[in-house]
Amino acid sequence: MNEVTIQSPATVANLVCGFDVLGMALDAPFDTMQVRLLDEPIVVITSRDGFPLPADPAQNTAGAPLLAMIEELNSKIGFEVIIDKQIKPGSGIGSSAASAAGAVVAANHLLGNIFTKQDQVRFAMFGEKVASGVKHADNVAPCIYGGITLIRSIFPLDIIAIPSPLLYVTVVHPQIEVRTSDARQILRKEVLLKDAIRQWGNIAGLVAGFMKNDYDLIGRSLEDVIIEPVRSMLIPGFDEVKQKCKEAGALGGGISGSGPSIFMLSKDPATAHEVEKVMKAIYERIGLAYHTYVTSINPEGVKIVP
Ligand code: HSE
Repeated sequence: MNEVTIQSPATVANLVCGFDVLGMALDAPFDTMQVRLLDEPIVVITSRDGFPLPADPAQNTAGAPLLAMIEELNSKIGFEVIIDKQIKPGSGIGSSAASAAGAVVAANHLLGNIFTKQDQVRFAMFGEKVASGVKHADNVAPCIYGGITLIRSIFPLDIIAIPSPLLYVTVVHPQIEVRTSDARQILRKEVLLKDAIRQWGNIAGLVAGFMKNDYDLIGRSLEDVIIEPVRSMLIPGFDEVKQKCKEAGALGGGISGSGPSIFMLSKDPATAHEVEKVMKAIYERIGLAYHTYVTSINPEGVKIVP
């Protein structure tokens, strides 16, 4: 086999309180990619979606991880990657991670599955470095593992898959672009001890809530006293979306990754659709173009298309 097609899902990083340590894969939207083996150690990127992303593989989020893989293997073969992106860059639902993780999973498949999932995350993080200047794993890990993942440490990598009850996810993407690198730059470099205590209580509560199927605990723990107060200023309508979605029955939610998308978790599909109506009404009134998704947690991650 010298060619494979994969679907690489959107992801929600941070899950409100878990900045850089928690993430979740979504069933929709997803990117489609084809990867082919080449008989020289190069990476060729072809885009079919019209997004103006760098064609230089070293600057491309799908290309950089494959160059790292070729170098580590001292490989004589290379890869051509054809990307059809549905996840808009700068949306906050893991567009760069989908490219990076998708390319790595496809390449690993073509090489005969020689790498562990953790190794694949390690390569995919080269793509995040290109995209945001920092090797964070809270999008690429859930993209590769599926479900919800905790990244206890990135150096060395320590990734834990977290089981969860059935949850429905509503996402609104107001059509403004927030670059992850900018959204990281504006964060304060120090936190108050009282805020740290509240935050780690919430992270532990959220993980316990997922593992115990305790919806109320999940809802109570979806609180961020460190990052959200700063980043939410970049997202028009944020406070109103959060408040009214909770009034409509959502368990809770917040900024997806570095934004501008906002996500909400619900116990059942009917509530998730009610939440979508609330989101739409707010952005109609504000007069800002938007896109919504009602979806669920993707248990599988990047999928090889048969
Ligand atoms: N944890 C990262 C951030 C995710 O919030 O900057 C970016 O998608």
